[in-house]
Amino acid sequence: MNRSYIENVNPPFFAIYIVVYMDKFVIQGGNELRGEVTISGAKNALLALMPATILAPGSYTLDNTPDLRDVTTMSQLLQIMGMDVKLSGKKLSIDSSGIFNFEAPYEQVKKMRASIYVLGPLLSRYGEARVSLPGGCAWGPRPVNFHIDGMKKLGAEITIENGYINARAKKLRGTRISFDTPSVGATGNLLMAAVLAEGTTMIENAAMEPEINQLAHFLKKMGAKIHGVGTKRLEVEGVTELKPTNIATIPDRIEAGTFLVAGAITGGKITIKNCIPDHLSAVLSKLEQAGCEIRVERSSISLTAPSILEPVDVATDVYPGFPTDMQAQWIALMCKAKGTSVITDSIFVDRFKHVPELNRLGANIEIEENVAVVRGNGKLKGAKVMSTDLRASASLILGGLIAEGETEVLRVYHIDRGYESIEKKLQKLDARIERVQTEEY
Ligand code: EPZ
Repeated sequence: MNRSYIENVNPPFFAIYIVVYMDKFVIQGGNELRGEVTISGAKNALLALMPATILAPGSYTLDNTPDLRDVTTMSQLLQIMGMDVKLSGKKLSIDSSGIFNFEAPYEQVKKMRASIYVLGPLLSRYGEARVSLPGGCAWGPRPVNFHIDGMKKLGAEITIENGYINARAKKLRGTRISFDTPSVGATGNLLMAAVLAEGTTMIENAAMEPEINQLAHFLKKMGAKIHGVGTKRLEVEGVTELKPTNIATIPDRIEAGTFLVAGAITGGKITIKNCIPDHLSAVLSKLEQAGCEIRVERSSISLTAPSILEPVDVATDVYPGFPTDMQAQWIALMCKAKGTSVITDSIFVDRFKHVPELNRLGANIEIEENVAVVRGNGKLKGAKVMSTDLRASASLILGGLIAEGETEVLRVYHIDRGYESIEKKLQKLDARIERVQTEEY
């Protein structure tokens, strides 16, 4: 549109532009990643451990805590409830003695659905809670019926009004709970509801993710009696009191998997330190099938990428299966493979917001319900792409690392939710990636 047109047109009203400052990543593709990267503490472990401190008044230290937006969001929620929460370096100090507010407001919960984790501990300790329903997320509805039904089975009276879960319970009573499908969040929430209940609770078809196992371990350190940790069947004997304790958060297996894929997609040779290889077995076996050479030590993994990647089909599953949180990264990797691969997400059937953006980089991916068919061609070309959610952002960065020319990944606040200083860690591995502040109208 030429300027004269604009100058001659009187806007019908005073146009108000709202400028929002957001960061973007500017990536020059083509470098092979080489070197070592240290993995940070696990976001999804912390988002359960932090609310667990509601269960017993006193001071706690959660070590190996990364500086993430989701950790800040959970900290703000606990502070609104009256708790002291402070991160200094990697040490998160929490004092849960001063809780006076049993509500998780919509303004907080809409930022992060894991806020619902306060429901179980508040009911356990105070017998009441008012928690906003989390609503959907970037890729569709995320129901919480397992959480609510489980609390009701434990004896809580629950009403849903004006978008809030209102819960009350004189005393939670042990019972048998069985999930239709394993749910990480519901397993964690109900574990925290059952530990102070009267009698024994059986949780069947429980999630076995390492983050839930660490939560169970933390609760046992606080004095809870939990049997069957690491299996689908958890037995919780209610106790009358718990005590504060300390713990070091396990390494983030999804961050680890993401960096391994970054090494593989760029044809590089990297070592990830401070990880637990056992937590990544499904991902490691798929990387080997794709042609990567993997060497595992006690707390590190080395990967040497092949010159040509083999196409490898993946179907996500609950732990120890291939994690849905690695699905977007795997699709990015398969864009470089020599042939066609089929990626099925059996956990979240519509978690494919990254696909249209990867196709803007020249990928050839088709979606049919919860199945992505990737026709690898390895020839991505830089473009502007938009982050929509945490793992989608990671897949766009991976695409940018191999795209010819410059890629701009917008709205990287999504990635800051779950990856600590990802651009600094990638720069140390020779990636050409810069964080740039940008204005969006
Ligand atoms: C946790 O979410 C993780 N978040 C997610 O990671 C992860 O993708 C997911 O588990 C699956 O592994 C945290 O731990 C904070 P679910 P959660 O309950 O607990 C259905 C990331 O990228 N379901 O295990 O919400 C649900 O729709 C995030 O770090 C119900 O039907 O997931 C899904 O199909 C994204 N009703 C399946 O269960 C319920 O009440 C598994 O969901 C709850 C879940």
